[in-house]
Amino acid sequence: MSRAFDWLDKRYGLTPLVDFLKHKEVPVGGHSMVWYYLGGTTLFFFASQVCTGLLLLLFYQPGEATAYESIRFITTKVPFGWLVRSLHCWSAHLMIVSLIVHMFSTFFLKAYRPPRELSWVTGFVLFMLALGFGFSGYLLPWNELAFFATSVGTDSMKAVPGIGDWLLQVLRGGTDVSAQTLYRFFALHVVALPLITVGLVGGHLLFIQRQGMAPAMGTHVARRGLRFFPDFLLRDLLLWLLCLILLATLAVSLPYGPGLPGVEWELGKKANPLAPAYPGIKPEWYFLWVYQLLKEFPPHILGMEGPQAAILLVSVMLGIWAAVPWLDRRAQRDESSTAFSDLGVAAILFVGYLTLKAWDIGGKGLKVPDTFAVARATSIITVIVAAAIFALRRFAYQHRFFLLSGAATLQIALHGFLRVSYLNAGIVSVLLIAAGFAYLRLRPGPSVPPRLGVAP
Ligand code: HEM
Repeated sequence: MSRAFDWLDKRYGLTPLVDFLKHKEVPVGGHSMVWYYLGGTTLFFFASQVCTGLLLLLFYQPGEATAYESIRFITTKVPFGWLVRSLHCWSAHLMIVSLIVHMFSTFFLKAYRPPRELSWVTGFVLFMLALGFGFSGYLLPWNELAFFATSVGTDSMKAVPGIGDWLLQVLRGGTDVSAQTLYRFFALHVVALPLITVGLVGGHLLFIQRQGMAPAMGTHVARRGLRFFPDFLLRDLLLWLLCLILLATLAVSLPYGPGLPGVEWELGKKANPLAPAYPGIKPEWYFLWVYQLLKEFPPHILGMEGPQAAILLVSVMLGIWAAVPWLDRRAQRDESSTAFSDLGVAAILFVGYLTLKAWDIGGKGLKVPDTFAVARATSIITVIVAAAIFALRRFAYQHRFFLLSGAATLQIALHGFLRVSYLNAGIVSVLLIAAGFAYLRLRPGPSVPPRLGVAP
């Protein structure tokens, strides 16, 4: 080993890299270490996707006459083909779960604050790419569900202001979903997205290696941390082993998914573009909130088409999310910024409520669910969660800013309990936020007292 190392060292000068690894440390204290492992678990699931995807590629054949047949061949004839497909599908969902938890944990720890703005931005783009993987992969089996879900999903692109129709044509390769769409999605899924993602993951990891992991807010002085090599890495590997066990168990015991809408991959019937679309078709679970938001908008609003207004709102929200490192001025000064923690909670309540509603929770299993019953049941769940988060933040972290999460909860409560339309309830909440900020501006003294050294 040491001779091989010397040989490589002489040619490529590896000693500085080894020195760097020897001295690299992960900050300890301030908050739980658990949050530092979630990027690693996301990386694990991404690597699983690449490995199982390559195996599927050995047999998958894109094309109107071959895509569905080749997936059926993989699941019925190829030895362990069903397992590889199941691993690929499960790992895709687990990766998105891990990604979302990683994104919110870095958000709440304010790990995006300078100098780590680009870690956040590359991460945000990776999040969008992961959604792109899910969307493009969904069509590849060319079954009924995939076909109609892609028709509905791509149709919502029309709503993108200005370039909607063009975007729809580019994505579909024509006016309708056809074999052309399948080829494009295949190229995106197995070539374009993996190449861009690998490059960006490389950049994301490089930034983190150069800067190290963010210490807790207010702890400027680097205390002695946990050695990255081997202490942190060994823990990382142990967690990867647990992820592998979880993935294998799920893939073997539920090869076609848990059967929840948006989390199933039963092959079913082959796509037939001439067949009528069946009602109640839903996208994958991580798109459900956008799907539900589109449903909450009327056909026309403020001189725009309803879906256009909904997509514009989603774009503005995502834009704010991407720009958080520059918007959070307090975090830039390494001061506690509870207003931004509140923004994160409001985002969770907003997205969580719409997702539950899209699942028709509380709809009593009716074919056409009772919309009021669904709105009430999902409101009860979300308001309970909101109250629990409020109690945790108030009593464990002494937070005092609840304007945004309060407004999000008010919208949900007005809609679910008093049957106010979702949009009108939203307008009341926006007015409350405006009044709240006006009050904080006019009030003498700091609006949110800085609390250095506490969890943000
Ligand atoms: C394929 C997707 C991703 C992979 C593989 C990945 C991987 C990682 C890894 C391995 C780390 C270092 C360990 C850790 O803090 O967990 C990290 C840190 C970080 N990630 Fe990601 N990540 C991904 C997506 C994201 C997303 C979506 C965001 C946010 C929008 C994000 C923001 C960050 C930030 C700010 C850090 C620095 C954390 C710190 O300094 O404490 N990442 N990522």
